[in-house]
Amino acid sequence: MSSVLILVCIVLLAGCSIPPNPGNLFSGKKVVGVDFEQVGPEDKIVIKFSHVVAENTPKGLAANKFKRLAESKTNGRVEVQIFPNAQLYDDDAAIAALQQNQVQMIAPATSKMTYLIPEWQVFDLPYAFRDEEAVKQAMEGELGLKLFSLLEPHGLIGLTMWDNGFKQLTTKKRPIHKLNDIQGLSFRIMDSNILKKQFELFGATPVVTRFSDVYSFLEQDMTDGQENTLSNIYTKRFYEVQDYLTVSDHGYLGYAVITNQEFWNAIPDDIQILLEEAMKETTQWIRVNAKRINEEQLENLTRTQRLRVHYLTATDKAEWKKLLSPVYQQLTSEIGNEYMRFLPK
Ligand code: LMR
Repeated sequence: MSSVLILVCIVLLAGCSIPPNPGNLFSGKKVVGVDFEQVGPEDKIVIKFSHVVAENTPKGLAANKFKRLAESKTNGRVEVQIFPNAQLYDDDAAIAALQQNQVQMIAPATSKMTYLIPEWQVFDLPYAFRDEEAVKQAMEGELGLKLFSLLEPHGLIGLTMWDNGFKQLTTKKRPIHKLNDIQGLSFRIMDSNILKKQFELFGATPVVTRFSDVYSFLEQDMTDGQENTLSNIYTKRFYEVQDYLTVSDHGYLGYAVITNQEFWNAIPDDIQILLEEAMKETTQWIRVNAKRINEEQLENLTRTQRLRVHYLTATDKAEWKKLLSPVYQQLTSEIGNEYMRFLPK
């Protein structure tokens, strides 16, 4: 009888994914009942990595790169399963699924962390970063570290931050050249108070929706426009349902790459080190390549001849920044100066 039970256990552990919802299976550093050091080298640690964007984007390509590196560095001891395009979970649902260990890695836009941890809104501030180098300093410096420390009480660990790029506006009714062109329009946004406030200051109406619904919202005229990076605009074909693109660079869209604390702490130290190496190399890759990918996708977008492209001048950007500056006071009064002081001057 007991040998049947053992056999059932071995079969269940083969290809060993951590059982969904670890609940009381985990205790501290090692997993009770699923001890990787006991199950033999042939058993795999499976990391389900869920994200919402297309594969041909900075995040999609980085996730695939991480998979290749993690699997080869660990000689196949780790298997990374990538689920792009919100195949498994969308937006907030992905964070909840990670907390329950239904998936083991996600990389939500920083704006999507803000409902859980309002301090992450610092990355939503308009015109906070003059270029990618300033973003990198913030992500890899004290600001990133402090924001990562806020994940711990939620059962999460921040592994790294990944780049996408600066956000641009697309619209259908009319082109956006000057500030008053935005007034009276509605825009899809990610769920963040600072993003809401930003569009209110523009005199527009913000509408929160999941990323996977944006195309149909635009198609059915449920919003007039949206803000996003060039790679997301291109790969999700928003150009089919929008007429104008304004390259405004008014905010940054980057990612928090996070894992489940109990899952991560249960991984043997030697494997953890290899996964960290794989993540570090992937981050180095995305730092160098995200901008190039967005630039290439702007060329692809232009080639479709579906969008009229307008570039804001430096003077326009200074005006937009001035109009939007009250969001800085709003966020300071919400979260204090402890995080704001790390923003580039
Ligand atoms: C969005 O919802 O617009 C973005 O967060 C999508 C993404 O992950 O880049």
